[in-house]
Amino acid sequence: MSIDKREKVIYTDRENCDCLKGRKETSEMGDLVGQIRKKAKKLNRCIVLPESNDGRVVRAANMITKQKIARVILLGNQEEISKKFPNTDLKGITIIDPKKVDIAPYAQLLFDLRKEKGMTQEMAQVLARDPMYFGTLMVKRGEADGMAGGACHSTGDMLRPGMQLIKAAPGISTVSSCFFMMLPKGSKFGEILVFGDCAVIPNPMPQQLADIAIASAESAKKLAGLTPKVALLSFSTKGSAKGSAVDKVTAALEIAKHAAPELCIDGELQADAALVSAIASLKAPQSIVAGKANVLIFPDLQSGNIAYKLVERLAGAKAIGPICQGFAKPLNDLSRGCSVEDIITVVAITAMQVVD
Ligand code: ACO
Repeated sequence: MSIDKREKVIYTDRENCDCLKGRKETSEMGDLVGQIRKKAKKLNRCIVLPESNDGRVVRAANMITKQKIARVILLGNQEEISKKFPNTDLKGITIIDPKKVDIAPYAQLLFDLRKEKGMTQEMAQVLARDPMYFGTLMVKRGEADGMAGGACHSTGDMLRPGMQLIKAAPGISTVSSCFFMMLPKGSKFGEILVFGDCAVIPNPMPQQLADIAIASAESAKKLAGLTPKVALLSFSTKGSAKGSAVDKVTAALEIAKHAAPELCIDGELQADAALVSAIASLKAPQSIVAGKANVLIFPDLQSGNIAYKLVERLAGAKAIGPICQGFAKPLNDLSRGCSVEDIITVVAITAMQVVD
């Protein structure tokens, strides 16, 4: 199947999916998305969207510009975009074609940053024109405040240029991600749970798991206005089971407590002990988090990625993300199944993550 066709199928599948059917995304996600977009408007940030070959991205660029959520730079050829999407108004969107710009300063920066890793001048000349690298280099050079891509690239292909060129913020060693899980109205677990990391690090070491916990708590506070109560999840609660998988989680707890002594965090906890107070009082009666956790940290990507998709599909939650955290400048990954509304929200989140 061609990429275009496959994208269409994914998009259509999402639109028709039973658990999302009939739900108006903007109203269903309620106040949080509205608040994030409102806050982004005030910031007037400049966000680059590298994937102008995707109709959802072009439509989102139009709406973001019209609603003044951010200033948008779309990468691609103006004539080709207009021809491919004749019904989308491009007014107010800055369009830059990486194939036509003077690539020398971008290629030089790419070479300088990657020469120790085997990058040659010739390789840099070619790679700098790749929209994912060009957009990342624009952010690195301060020509844009952040970037959102991944509507038609895998998470790895979206994040790799950022990890290579933007790197983690000072004092942080790990780029990771979280999802805001918007639970159906009336859920006894509240409206929002934050899940981390469900998209980036396949098998985090204890230090990385601690970084994920601290960064997810910060995202919960900064973007969702929550008071984070962080549970490091496991199949064991407070020593009920043993083994290296459990040791990893308890080691992460010690590192996180040392690095962020003010953080309300506990582990290792099973998911039910983290969320249900009756079970918490039986399994972890001394815990400051058990029974009231709102930030759930998964021990690895298998469990995190499976969990967020199950909660979305079986519990009818809406997942906002993955929200990348820990980059020196904000870059965010769009899922390949994203809708236009998702892209607008991710751009607003990216704008809010900019640190002056
Ligand atoms: N934080 C900071 N830097 C990192 C991280 C990280 N988490 N991971 C890798 N890096 C750095 C490396 O140190 C390296 O830097 P250097 O080249 O300057 O030395 C650079 O990034 C590249 O590292 P690699 O190990 O070569 O990168 P790789 O491409 O193998 O892995 C990646 C990074 C792509 C993010 C990988 O972890 C990955 O593929 N993760 C899974 C993504 C995925 O498939 N998620 C599931 C789907 S998403 C969804 O369902 C919403």
